[in-house]
Amino acid sequence: MTHGQHQPVLVEECVEALALRPDGLYLDATFGRGGHSRAILARLGPAGRLLGIDRDPEAVAVGAVLARQDARFTMVQASFSRAAEVAGRYGVAGRIDGLLLDLGVSSPQLDDPGRGFSFSADGPLDMRMDPQTGESAAQWLGHASEADMVSVLRELGEERYAGRIARAIRHARLARPILTTRALAALCEAAVPTREPGKHPATRTFQAIRIYINRELDELAACLAQVCELLAARDGEHAGGAGAAPGTTAGGRLAVISFHSLEDRIVKRFIRDQARGEQFPRGVPVTADRSNPKLRPIGKAIHASPKEVAANPRSRSAVLRVAERLP
Ligand SMILES: C[S@@+](CC[C@H](N)C(=O)[O-])C[C@H]1O[C@@H](n2cnc3c(N)ncnc32)[C@H](O)[C@@H]1O
Repeated sequence: MTHGQHQPVLVEECVEALALRPDGLYLDATFGRGGHSRAILARLGPAGRLLGIDRDPEAVAVGAVLARQDARFTMVQASFSRAAEVAGRYGVAGRIDGLLLDLGVSSPQLDDPGRGFSFSADGPLDMRMDPQTGESAAQWLGHASEADMVSVLRELGEERYAGRIARAIRHARLARPILTTRALAALCEAAVPTREPGKHPATRTFQAIRIYINRELDELAACLAQVCELLAARDGEHAGGAGAAPGTTAGGRLAVISFHSLEDRIVKRFIRDQARGEQFPRGVPVTADRSNPKLRPIGKAIHASPKEVAANPRSRSAVLRVAERLP
């Protein structure tokens, strides 16, 4: 793959999961380089519409070019935690037929040393998906308490040597600030006493700091909390859209691709809770309409085929979950 490109994962599976209607209205809330967006547009007719969101200005620039070429597409720079606000601005709240989240970072973000996401090339230790907002990784490491660093590395990176790494960072920054990816990677190499096969000792630390700096789990939870208001909740008269099971209504679909268990757990629980509806104390008799479930899970978690994993190793950890808005 050449620098600047992103090989999208589970594209066919996503297209199928979204049960695309040619005249439907879709939201790709993680546009990236537009791999999924282009696949969606290819299946939409002239009346179909797609809104793309990304918080990375480089992704937005690519989306802006696509928007000039295809009048059915609109690109917006925003965090997906503000999806409802964006949808409100474009008058599409409650009308969306399919919402896609392909979480994590894109290959161009990882591959550009200037973005500071990768330990394999030297660059400024930034790691922000939107470099115009918030604190960079270097800024955070400059002032974070040892206890905060330990909890970030442990909870978001599942790093067993979190204590050693945090201590090493605190000592190192007394001498000079940690400003580059290489400096942080070298600290991790020295602090981690064991080696996992095929894994750089800084892998977990970089993942944890990236998730923390970009508030990735909070962003996901905030976006999911808006999903039911965004998706079209159709009644029976509109039933029968492509992909809808016979006898069911075809409400808007949610498709989320996660790349690690922390994200997947949030998605799985969200779908489960929305499918259960409101919980009442045990023993209180509740009719189905009072529990008011908002989503119905569609199938089980979907993984990349061995063929896709062979062609694109990034797809190995991808998990796609799908749900449909209930009336
Ligand atoms: C894995 S890539 C998506 C790739 C895309 N599906 C494609 O085919 O090119 C994830 C993208 O989501 C964006 N992103 C991640 N978290 C975001 C958030 N909270 N709000 C908006 N965009 C976000 C990243 O900037 C990145 O461009």
